[in-house]
Amino acid sequence: MMNYSDKVMEHFSNPRNVGEIENPDGLGEAGNPQCGDIMKIYLKVKDNVIEDVKFKTFGCASAIASSSMATELIKGKTVDEAWELTNTAVAEALDGLPPIKMHCSVLAEEAIHKALNDYREKQGLDVIPVKEFDHNHDSFAV
Ligand code: FES
Repeated sequence: MMNYSDKVMEHFSNPRNVGEIENPDGLGEAGNPQCGDIMKIYLKVKDNVIEDVKFKTFGCASAIASSSMATELIKGKTVDEAWELTNTAVAEALDGLPPIKMHCSVLAEEAIHKALNDYREKQGLDVIPVKEFDHNHDSFAV
């Protein structure tokens, strides 16, 4: 049995912001080819602020807890602040993830970046290049 923090267990059992947003201002999807888990993030943006965010995750407990925490962390933030959210910040907010589960939190960072870029594209702004995560080695390629 994996050693999960109480916060991970709590967000997994009672995830926040589950669902979809109709006609989202931004939609992002990230998947991990290794485990096959998929995360979708829906954004409603008003005056540059994330007014609402929902997620759908087909994945492990850590991925679901990470989605739940990440959506809580970006709700009410500006799009620029939301862009700064890293997977390590998500994991820290969950009081840590087991090392072999850190990659699950990466899905949240990736899906949020993709949703924010989708929003930027719709606004006619340039998309921001995202760092490529090497899912085979659990590290960022430089
Ligand atoms: Fe796939 Fe956690 S094992 S995201």
